[in-house]
Amino acid sequence: MRNWKLFFSLIVLLTHATQVLTQPIVFREYIGANFANVRFSDVPINPSIQFHFILSFAIDFTPGSSPKPTNGRFNVFWDSENLSPSQVLSIKRQHPNVKVALSLGGDTVSDKAANFTAFSIDSWVSNAVSSLTSVVKQYNLDGIDIDYEHFHVSPSVFAQCIGRVVTTLKRNRVISFASIAPYDDGEVQRHYLALWRSYGRVFDYVNFQFYAYDRRTTMGQFLSYFNEQSSNYDGGKMLVSFGTDSSGGLKPENGFFTACEELRKQRKLNGIFVWSADNSKANGFRYERQAQAVLAKA
Ligand SMILES: *[C@@H]1O[C@H](CO)[C@@H](O)[C@H](O)[C@H]1NC(C)=O
Repeated sequence: MRNWKLFFSLIVLLTHATQVLTQPIVFREYIGANFANVRFSDVPINPSIQFHFILSFAIDFTPGSSPKPTNGRFNVFWDSENLSPSQVLSIKRQHPNVKVALSLGGDTVSDKAANFTAFSIDSWVSNAVSSLTSVVKQYNLDGIDIDYEHFHVSPSVFAQCIGRVVTTLKRNRVISFASIAPYDDGEVQRHYLALWRSYGRVFDYVNFQFYAYDRRTTMGQFLSYFNEQSSNYDGGKMLVSFGTDSSGGLKPENGFFTACEELRKQRKLNGIFVWSADNSKANGFRYERQAQAVLAKA
């Protein structure tokens, strides 16, 4: 039956085309850093877009009040009581469009800067691959986000360490997607741009922290920052973002969604991410709903 073969080829082609067309539109939300008792099931999830939770954070420091660097052996620092392995499974079962990632680093560990520290590239990479593989498997995770903001190594050492770990985890099919989360700061950009130059191709998204800009950011400035950072991270899928805490940038109440509509018209709206669910719980995730509705139209 030749027709059957054709029919199945068409189905495969259509499925593939649908994935290609829908995958770029993604809504992502950091969760779990502030121990605000927020659960996955508290957050509204629009079924017609890709949805990523990003657990914050796994850090290569010892737990406790005087954290020491562990040379790539990662520990879980998010609210693992409310965001446990079984809760990951359950939210993914209830919502087939949900994937869950973990983020590495973050600003602080026990109120001190979470410095990226490696005793040597080879040993850091080897420890990170094995510790992250077990956390990802234990928690049923799908992806990884890189969010270091302080560095005790050069840009090229950072690039080698992170680039090699992400490449290995993808090759081993431990994770299926990866992102970086830089912001507009000289030291931070030097490290992430070095990573981008050597390993940009292994990253699926750039979670640029647009909420790290000034609080008085206008819509015009926001759009020009977007273009500037898109050209810095050339070839990457640049996502826009806002914070629901006291951070800066262009807030939803000051025109963030109007700016998104403008990007959508220019076919540059790849997705939106929010920092963070812990802060949004108080106002009932109002802007998460709005952001996903904007993306569902895109
Ligand atoms: C990170 O480094 C800074 C100095 O650069 C230091 O003050 C801070 O305590 C370090 N963080 C930790 C967790 O040790």
